[in-house]
Amino acid sequence: MNKQGLLPLLLLASAGFITLLPASVAADMTLQMCINCHGQDGRGGDAITPIIAGLTEVVHEDALYAYMDGDRTCALVPIMCKMAQKLSEDQVVSLAAHFAALPFAPANEEFDTTLADQGKAINERDCAICHGGDEPGDPESGILHGQRKGYLRLALQQYAAGERKQLPAMQKKTTALSADDIEALVNFYASFRN
Ligand code: HEC
Ligand code: HEC
Repeated sequence: MNKQGLLPLLLLASAGFITLLPASVAADMTLQMCINCHGQDGRGGDAITPIIAGLTEVVHEDALYAYMDGDRTCALVPIMCKMAQKLSEDQVVSLAAHFAALPFAPANEEFDTTLADQGKAINERDCAICHGGDEPGDPESGILHGQRKGYLRLALQQYAAGERKQLPAMQKKTTALSADDIEALVNFYASFRN
């Protein structure tokens, strides 16, 4: 069956309408939905779908619960939030473990070197203490280095506008960022290669 044929079935399964299937089959179908957008390797495909390969289990689980609770909105791809809302706690745990076990590799997207240099300085001043400088910092702070630019830009715009739940210590820094600062940071993180 091609992807288009499978999609309605997967939507039904994830919505819990197909209850006669064994739990393991339903779980595989849910994972397949995630993979449709985030990729088999967890590295996504388009600009706004984040790389989730290697994302630590805690950050992954917190993200899914935040989508469930409305602390995070899926402004551009509402299906992401709709899917999260259907997950059981067991599914959250096993999906987070599945993607945490996949190796991270940076998106290797193009970047502007002048902007990246400006972003490096802003990162050093405001973010490095938690997120690291030239190398990623605490893994429990999510993936910034090598993350997809489109997703990071959107995330930072939401943080700056106070539209996405964040740590108070981070909020102080992000709400002070201008649109130019955000663009510089996005280019700095995009410059990461490993
Ligand atoms: C229709 C495409 C789509 C599907 C299906 C999808 N995602 Fe996503 N995912 C996205 C997009 C787009 C974002 C960014 C959303 C935002 O925050 O605005 C995202 C964000 C995430 C994040 C946050 C990453 C971070 O660094 O904070 C996690 C975790 C995640 N998805 C896991 C999953 C899992 C697990 C599944 C399957 C249950 C899934 N996604 C299904 C598109 C999708
Ligand atoms: C006090 C520590 C701290 C500081 C300072 C901080 N952050 Fe964070 N940040 C975190 C933690 C912890 C997370 C993961 C938990 C969460 O999503 O709230 C995070 C998450 C993020 C995310 C989401 C990652 C993802 O996977 O979606 C982005 C983007 C981000 N921070 C950018 C920044 C930027 C840019 C700065 C500087 C202007 C900054 N942060 C300063 C601790 C910090």
